[in-house]
Amino acid sequence: MFLTFFFALVWLVFGVLSFGPAVFIFCYMRKKSKEPWPTKVDSNYRPRVSILVPTYNESSIILFKLTNLSRLKYPKNLIEVIVVDSNSSDDTVEIVRRFSEKEQHLQMRILVEKDRKGKSRALNYALDYSDSDVVIVSDADCFWPSDILEKALPFLADPSVGGISGPKILLNASQTWVTRMEENYLRSANVLRLGESKAGSTVFFEGGFCAFKREAFDRFDPYGTGSDDCGTVVSVVEKDHRTMLVPEAGFYSAFPESLRGKLSIKLRRANQLVRVFARYLDLLVKGEVRKTKRTIVPNTFLYLFSPFALVVLIALTALLVLGFPLLLMLLALFIIPKIRFYSYEILESNMLLLAAIFGVVVGKGFSIWSQPEDRVRLTKETLHQLNLV
Ligand code: GDD
Ligand code: MN
Repeated sequence: MFLTFFFALVWLVFGVLSFGPAVFIFCYMRKKSKEPWPTKVDSNYRPRVSILVPTYNESSIILFKLTNLSRLKYPKNLIEVIVVDSNSSDDTVEIVRRFSEKEQHLQMRILVEKDRKGKSRALNYALDYSDSDVVIVSDADCFWPSDILEKALPFLADPSVGGISGPKILLNASQTWVTRMEENYLRSANVLRLGESKAGSTVFFEGGFCAFKREAFDRFDPYGTGSDDCGTVVSVVEKDHRTMLVPEAGFYSAFPESLRGKLSIKLRRANQLVRVFARYLDLLVKGEVRKTKRTIVPNTFLYLFSPFALVVLIALTALLVLGFPLLLMLLALFIIPKIRFYSYEILESNMLLLAAIFGVVVGKGFSIWSQPEDRVRLTKETLHQLNLV
């Protein structure tokens, strides 16, 4: 009797450790997300921007990307596009050159590195050629609404804000069950990020739109986490600047349609995030995180400790079910779609995190990655329908 009680108690503790922080954070952030912005938003803020487009073998898409950028409504004299290529083996660079000769109204610079050492190094190389007050990174496979700069940059106006990013809008949301799941996931994740942004800072940036004030950071990914976006945010936060995800900076991109494609991208992201949060943990222990404690402490816990608590919980549950087979009736709960969805997402993300933590421990990194073979081929029609090209 005592043993059963003790066992149930331990089970409960691990249940709370595994799900408690996530549930609490979600509820808290959802509440926060509805509050008004605590920072100044100034629509007259019109900085000069350098748009950095890193490329490696993007010949299939780069013309769409440049056309998309050339349609921006923001004053052309305040825009400079810097394409930084790492010696692509296809004709990306020639396409970019031809475009820039034809479209003289767009200020463009084309940089080609001698060898390929990853996106972050390419971005740092490009940074030396930019003298704008604001630097915006945008992946070649991401597309902006033409008024994104007028809508998003006002959020950078507040002196306390160092960087802003935007949510990803899927171009192929209804294509497969994988993309449908991702769309659901993004909906919840964006509420969280918005709440975090209003509560302090979010550390989750997206490669489709990452804008940083030049004064708020020195280099991309200074700690070698392999993450040019979230890894750069660490140093912005360290300088005591806020970093926020603003819905006005939403950009379009396609998501892998197969589970394999999804998992490989998520595993890379998890590896990068584990490195990012390990760095934050270090800063937290040294007492160097100030303004953003409220969002960084819980996330560090979520990313570095929760996966282990979940494994213990699963093991304990298995033991419990062995002792009390009737508990299997609880499986009936999985009829409810929401429960099924969240259970799967929590399980998948924690397993990916465990794999990533293991990878980081044995020294696996992702500064350079190969483009997935099944990367979605976008057509002009799809982009045209959304008025993106
Ligand atoms: N110059 C240069 N050199 N550019 C590169 C290199 C490189 O070695 N590797 C990739 N790029 C460019 C690509 O051409 C593309 O424009 C951009 O970097 C992003 O590459 P993708 O291959 O599309 O990355 P992803 O969509 O799988 O991953 C995105 O999300 C990750 C986080 O989840 C990217 O934004 C990653 O940087 C990010 O870490
Ligand atoms: Mn991409």
